[in-house]
Amino acid sequence: MSQLSPVLKQATPVVATRGEGIHLFDADGRRYLDFTSGVGVTSTGHCHPRVVEAVQRQVGRLIHGQYTTVLHEPLLTLTERLGEVLPDGLDSLFYAASGSEAVEAALRLARHATGRPNAIVFDGSFHGRTMGAAALTTAGTRFRAGIGPLIPGIAVAPFPYAFRLGMSEEAAVEYALRGLDHVLATVSAPGETAAMFVEPVLGEGGYVPAPAGFVAGLRERADRHGILLVLDEVQTGFGRTGRFWAHQHNDDVVPDVLITAKGLASGFPLSAIAAPTALMRKAWPGSQGGTYGGNAVACAAALATLDVIRDERLVENAAEQGRRLVDGLRKVAAGAPAIADVRGLGLMVGNEFCHPDGSPDPATAQRAQRAAADLGLLLLTCGTYLNVVRMIPALVVTAEQIDESLALWSKAVAVTTD
Ligand SMILES: Cc1ncc(COP(=O)(O)O)c(C=O)c1O
Repeated sequence: MSQLSPVLKQATPVVATRGEGIHLFDADGRRYLDFTSGVGVTSTGHCHPRVVEAVQRQVGRLIHGQYTTVLHEPLLTLTERLGEVLPDGLDSLFYAASGSEAVEAALRLARHATGRPNAIVFDGSFHGRTMGAAALTTAGTRFRAGIGPLIPGIAVAPFPYAFRLGMSEEAAVEYALRGLDHVLATVSAPGETAAMFVEPVLGEGGYVPAPAGFVAGLRERADRHGILLVLDEVQTGFGRTGRFWAHQHNDDVVPDVLITAKGLASGFPLSAIAAPTALMRKAWPGSQGGTYGGNAVACAAALATLDVIRDERLVENAAEQGRRLVDGLRKVAAGAPAIADVRGLGLMVGNEFCHPDGSPDPATAQRAQRAAADLGLLLLTCGTYLNVVRMIPALVVTAEQIDESLALWSKAVAVTTD
């Protein structure tokens, strides 16, 4: 008998048979409050009726119209509609199926457009698991060890992780920008640097929002040296952080390339990079593509997702419920010394567990995550040391569901830290 590869690590023992809104159900009918949303993917909740309807309609018309062979209506309409939410000037879109593929597409574009080989990433970055994306990933050796050699030419600059650095946010930004200047002076000369890739909120690296001034500092250096600024909004985009894009919290800095995936299509595999047409034109013809990019059903799901986000005011809801969640979590943390920091933007919230000496405490974080699952609240860990419990409910989450999650979390933490 065949079985799933043991290479997959399971965060919970749940076998899901059905999903509805913020809930997952198993075969016994047990209900779980899903604060993982498929790692930030099911933005409109599980099986939102408007997404289901749009997908069912599309499946009956055209499932796969391969986009280098034929064009199709959902792809063209989505391209127009994304123009309504993308920053001004990013008017050209290229589609793929996963976040990693989109990251690779951005790297290819940056190298073609600048004729330069190198890229700079920031400590704690996660940009994916394919070989190029893994080379850009520094969130943990678990994503890179034993699979090298990875592509060369990637330099790492500090990220302003104020809590870990033990600095104020302002000091951390100054430290990180100086570190970047140092990398440009010592490792990756500006004339050899094609792009800087950055997440406006570190995702797998521990749910750390970039403090004010950091992304603006990157923009200034990118302009000064002719380096492209690539914002990876795979996890932070589509309303997750209480603005449509997380970089809109960062002094409204406009990137040269923006990468989106995950919440874009409410669970269907779809990703995209957006850039000015003049920049996209610099990619060598035929250098980008893929069998499944811009799949018709995924595009129909993305169109319905955009409608739901607008009509149900989900960006505003993410901001409001995110504040409620952080306030509640800080109250729980006040009675649990192992939770040393609670931080987040919108509905992308992390609880960092540390020992009294400030060193990471992954064991307690993972016990709390498992205890929560036993109680019916599904959560994930993240961070280099896996000592951050993250909460990423769908954007449709209500105040009552946030309160229910807080009650369960409080119990899980109490059991764990007793
Ligand atoms: C910021 C970021 N970039 C890229 C990726 C890779 O996306 P995928 O897993 O769809 O390849 C992820 C996935 O978690 C991510 O969070």
